[in-house]
Amino acid sequence: MECIARLKEAFTRRFGPAALSRTVLAAAPGRVNLIGEHTDYNDGFVLPIAIDRRIWILGAPGEDETVRLYSLDFRAEVTFPLAAVGTVAPDPKERWSNYPRGVLWALYEAGYRLGGFMAVVAGEVPQGAGLSSSAAFEVATAVLVDRLFGLEIPAEKLIRLCQRAENLFVGVNCGIMDQFISRLGRAGHALLLDCRDLSYRYYTLDPAEARVVVVDTGIKHSLVASEYNRRRQECERGVAVLQSRHPSVRALRDADAAMLAALEPSMEPVVAKRCRHVIGENDRTLAAAQALAAGDLELFGRLMYESHASLRDLYEVSCPELDLLVELARGVPGVYGARMTGAGFGGCTVNLVRPEAVEEFTAVVKEKYSARTGKNPAVYLCRAADGGKVFETGEGFSFPD
Ligand code: GLA
Repeated sequence: MECIARLKEAFTRRFGPAALSRTVLAAAPGRVNLIGEHTDYNDGFVLPIAIDRRIWILGAPGEDETVRLYSLDFRAEVTFPLAAVGTVAPDPKERWSNYPRGVLWALYEAGYRLGGFMAVVAGEVPQGAGLSSSAAFEVATAVLVDRLFGLEIPAEKLIRLCQRAENLFVGVNCGIMDQFISRLGRAGHALLLDCRDLSYRYYTLDPAEARVVVVDTGIKHSLVASEYNRRRQECERGVAVLQSRHPSVRALRDADAAMLAALEPSMEPVVAKRCRHVIGENDRTLAAAQALAAGDLELFGRLMYESHASLRDLYEVSCPELDLLVELARGVPGVYGARMTGAGFGGCTVNLVRPEAVEEFTAVVKEKYSARTGKNPAVYLCRAADGGKVFETGEGFSFPD
């Protein structure tokens, strides 16, 4: 709520009190993936939650065809004519503005017509920690302009347009997971998504049974983009080999362990390792969803540890600091499971912890991680939250007056 008060104050200061009565408040959450890593771009399964940390945008339609955006976090404003949206290039200076610019570009390309508007934005999702602040910003922008201009974009279409903004405008070749969960997350639930046909199902995650604790290594690896793209290509090379024997294999999602074992000798060893991870991870993700449904959190936790080992040894996207955090978690009683989450090479671990063990877990991890690395890790206690939406007056906020 503190964010909302700051937005209101900044909006009034920059755009005047009169426009405040026409504002719409939109927000979209960051995410943490419980299991199913590096599977989304292989047409596989993921099981993320949206978290109770959001990007908030307060905006109102403008009088002319100008877009004015002010970021409270960067203390910077960008202004551009709407007419330029179709041709505008990413801004190398105000890089934060490329997420909303990209969304406006994707909407324009898809044939949606908007008007000018002014908006202020502020975020609670830590940036660069692997919690998808970028997807949150994209979804929040899309939800805002959807309401401002009465576009009524179906959720799935909006998600795909946000992914397109990230892929083609921002230039990050991500899968569909982050934008999907940021729009369609549900409070108190994890979401199992089939990244091929985008069918999905919610699974209850009862905070009385287990809490989701995210620990940030504080490491931001500069290799993440190039290594991410390299992994995608290695997966494609694996598919090509599998396809030569099994023409129905369109993506690693279609292969199983036996098919892979038979063809491993004709694959580059590194490609075989990548395929083994993805095929195993898809199985683990489906098993984890079943475990949630059955209330078997012990099994869920074991699958998390297995996922981490596979990401470390087969997919090779972990780093010593992530491995250390997972090992520290393993030593604390009351921790069901832990693993790296997101693309890897730094960022965060996700830990599933009994509620009564959270305090001890946090203390132990903080103390031992800083003793070993000299870094003080940020710890975020997260709740599964709703996806991006427009907030109506009365829903925890009370303006326009
Ligand atoms: C990043 C991408 C996602 C997904 C994960 C790995 O977060 O944005 O699409 O590929 O990495 O699971």
